[in-house]
Amino acid sequence: MSDRYVVIGNPVAHSKSPAIHAAFAAQTGQQLEYERCLAPLDAFAATVQGLIAAGCKGANVTVPFKLDAAALADTLSDRAHAAGAVNTLSFTPQGIAGDNTDGAGLVNDILNNAGVAIAAKRVLLVGAGGAARGVILPLLQQGPRELVIANRTFATAEALAVRFGGVTAACEFAALAGQFDIVINATSASLAGDIPPVPAAVFGPGTLALDMMYASAPTPFMQFAAGHGATVRDGLGMLVEQAAEAFFIWRGVRPETAAVLASLRMPA
Ligand code: ATR
Repeated sequence: MSDRYVVIGNPVAHSKSPAIHAAFAAQTGQQLEYERCLAPLDAFAATVQGLIAAGCKGANVTVPFKLDAAALADTLSDRAHAAGAVNTLSFTPQGIAGDNTDGAGLVNDILNNAGVAIAAKRVLLVGAGGAARGVILPLLQQGPRELVIANRTFATAEALAVRFGGVTAACEFAALAGQFDIVINATSASLAGDIPPVPAAVFGPGTLALDMMYASAPTPFMQFAAGHGATVRDGLGMLVEQAAEAFFIWRGVRPETAAVLASLRMPA
């Protein structure tokens, strides 16, 4: 019997993770099954216990359960601890191990797919919620010249800057000055068709503007950034890369991501 994995979320019907992991398994010759699991909003832990009892080996965790997964795990990786959130669970004889591959996914997408170095660059992280917190440590580990966090609610950005010692500054949008090499939208504004009000001057030719969200059309943030000269990128590459990192944790094999990302970008 092949090993079984799931992605747990609510909603979860539109998750691309089963297609991504099926492609990784086919490419690497790994025998596994990967399915969607809709957990009731008040029953994440019970759902996980049921999966373990049924012999499931691991789970990806998506909205809104990443904090519940961190609370449930018996052990946390350093990056999951720093993020305060878990997107990858491994069910082992020793217990439930929690990791967070979102930040590594973002960093690998920027380095390998966009071909842009982070070391010695001016990086602006827009937003200070869970998505932002999950990527700060892996970004800092790349050695940017600056990592500035800007958020609509300044106090939340300031709290993150205090929590992560290497952050250069927390900032209000209006106080942002100068062009950045990399601007990452980690707000949920795109979900509502909105744009965080960053000054246009943060973008320019030579800026990589990345929205962690993705949709069939460029998000308003991507359109705004492109209109001011930036090279733009959506969150699909990050999604594939975080999945590759989870696959590596579970199977000890690192899949090639380029072909899988290209196939997801092809019109259905
Ligand atoms: P997530 O886990 O997706 O990060 P979250 O923790 O609710 O979700 O955080 C949402 C982030 O998007 C926050 O940084 C939020 O700003 P506030 O802290 O000021 O609430 C930001 N956000 C959401 N909608 C926004 C908008 N329309 N403009 C600017 N920022 C927005």
